[in-house]
Amino acid sequence: MAPSHPINLEDRYAFLQKELARLEHAYYVLDAPLLPDIEYDRLYREMLEIESAHPEWISSDSLSQRVGGVALKEFDSVQHAVPMLSLNNAFEESELVAFDRRCREGLHSTHVDYAGELKFDGLAISLRYENGTLVRAATRGDGASGEDVTANIKTIRAIPLKLLGANIPAVLEVRGEVFMYLKDFQKMNHKAATLGEKEFANPRNAAAGSLRQLDSKITAKRPLSFFAYGLGALEPASWLPETHEQLLNAYVDFGLPVCPERRVLKSVEEILTFYKEIGAKRDSLPYDIDGVVYKVNSFTEQSKLGFVSRAPRFALAHKYPAQEALTTVLGIDVQVGRTGAITPVARLAPVEVGGVTVTNATLHNEDEVQRKDVRIGDTVSIRRAGDVIPEVVSVIKDRRPDNAIAFVMPTQCPVCRSHIERLVDEAVARCSGGLFCGAQRKQALIHFAHRRALDIEGLGEKIVDQLVDQNLVRTPADLYQLGFAALANLERMGEKSADNLIQAINKSRNTSLARFIFALGIRHVGETTAKDLANHYQSMHAVMEATLEDLLTVKDVGPVVADSIISFMQEAHNREVIEQLLASGMQLSVEEKTISAAVAGKTFVLTGTFPSLTRDEAKALLEKAGAKVAGSVSKKTDYVVAGADAGSKLTKAEELGVTVIGEAAMLELLK
Ligand code: IVH
Repeated sequence: MAPSHPINLEDRYAFLQKELARLEHAYYVLDAPLLPDIEYDRLYREMLEIESAHPEWISSDSLSQRVGGVALKEFDSVQHAVPMLSLNNAFEESELVAFDRRCREGLHSTHVDYAGELKFDGLAISLRYENGTLVRAATRGDGASGEDVTANIKTIRAIPLKLLGANIPAVLEVRGEVFMYLKDFQKMNHKAATLGEKEFANPRNAAAGSLRQLDSKITAKRPLSFFAYGLGALEPASWLPETHEQLLNAYVDFGLPVCPERRVLKSVEEILTFYKEIGAKRDSLPYDIDGVVYKVNSFTEQSKLGFVSRAPRFALAHKYPAQEALTTVLGIDVQVGRTGAITPVARLAPVEVGGVTVTNATLHNEDEVQRKDVRIGDTVSIRRAGDVIPEVVSVIKDRRPDNAIAFVMPTQCPVCRSHIERLVDEAVARCSGGLFCGAQRKQALIHFAHRRALDIEGLGEKIVDQLVDQNLVRTPADLYQLGFAALANLERMGEKSADNLIQAINKSRNTSLARFIFALGIRHVGETTAKDLANHYQSMHAVMEATLEDLLTVKDVGPVVADSIISFMQEAHNREVIEQLLASGMQLSVEEKTISAAVAGKTFVLTGTFPSLTRDEAKALLEKAGAKVAGSVSKKTDYVVAGADAGSKLTKAEELGVTVIGEAAMLELLK
């Protein structure tokens, strides 16, 4: 599979650099990996090995330089050969119509083509390529001069250190935006949170903060990305294509990342359609944008139009409503979800964010409130991006009033007054009144009636919705008090189906203990655990009275499950519902023990010392699997299990021709 590569090490090194650059381009720019990561890593390591043997071959554009270098004391200042300007903004349709009119009038033309593209919410950067090699990268700064962030920019895998393809101009300054994909931003913030480090407020701040690191090794760890959208210095000037669109296509050929969301727009109508289409897509784009940009497509026309002060006349940013806004926290409540999850929610003074009035923002969980240190009375920054629920991004600490009040997690559910608990190992606090809580009612009933729980046919979501909404049923126990009349009055429920449902409910009284336990909807208690509990305790009351230590002896029950069961059973509301259910005539059969076909009904005799089990443990295992364990060997004995120092029983077995096995073989039979 290895490409036929030259034996000469220097050639091999050159080949590896080229090949790795090609692979990085496919992975980071085209988002279409050519090789599995492990193959890439192998080639990369080979390149590093050659470099460590021949450090004199390492050039500043070697891919190994992407990991960052020595930390700087400060950034050098870079004078921009061509100033980096800003864009004029527009919010209204009328401003667009005026822009188009100005362009047409300025060009004495009836119609103008525009290149429509996205306005990325990151930071502008200028990349200087000389003969195709990246030599310098600078921030915008004041537009005339910026900071030299070359070492940091080189760590961004989407930015080629060498341009690909042919017809590369001697000097090319590529302008574009450094940004962070939303999912990379979330991952990075999540990691920072778990390490107790500072989180960034939004992807733009994260991108800017990462690029301004004096230590490029830190930047190298940040998931930055880049889109090219413009041009600075160029030599020879004759290289310039006719249009902006052609320029971006040339960039694509050079291996530069260019956003695919771009289109040539031929009229104000097309401009407005583009704005609306992108606006509708905004929430599902994988990165933040704050608008779209229209640029006169022809470079000749661009230069005819020229500039006013610091912004071009030939371009316009058409903005969308901001996704962040400041407001004050009026209170912090908690909400109970369908599964009992308790979410702290900030009640806010109403504020417009992203075109919508926001009055609440989620604070996710208790730890998050502490980490962000959100207090009642605080001024906070709210973000509503993508299709996510508005969230509190950060607190403006120097606006905190003296009487700001810290949040305290309530101990009781605001809906049902059951106790609120945080199970071991969980970030989320929950209402423990699963069977009783109004917020969890519908979910609890649907689960209770589920085919694998009490299997009440005909009690689906639509019926549960009506029963709960009409206050006919509050807990599963109420199901068994339902009369025919109440059911027959429900929407889309005839007499026949009402009758069927009554029968299904009645039938469900005859069930197994395991199904009943599963039907209670105790967190972390699935079907298997329910069966294990039923096998172990054999009665509902025994499960209700089980202690933590005892629960931990049940097969497959660990601390998380045990904690959850205890918390559920400690809640008086749940116990009441269980008692009501039991009182309504439940017949809970105890399923037979887990029978192992190979040993069920067989008689075993144990002798000697086993390598791992005690004799009692072995006996318990065999009996649980349905075997008999006898004290002496006879013709009726099926197996003698012999350990070390087995005595007369072993001799007897041999005399009678009874099968003798060891502990391992016994365990095998039990599987
Ligand atoms: S063109 C001469 N195109 O917006 C025009 N800018 O206010 C120079 N930006 O600093 C900019 N997306 O950071 C241009 N597609 C895009 C852009 C874009 C984002 C940012 C850029 C610049 C600011 C201009």
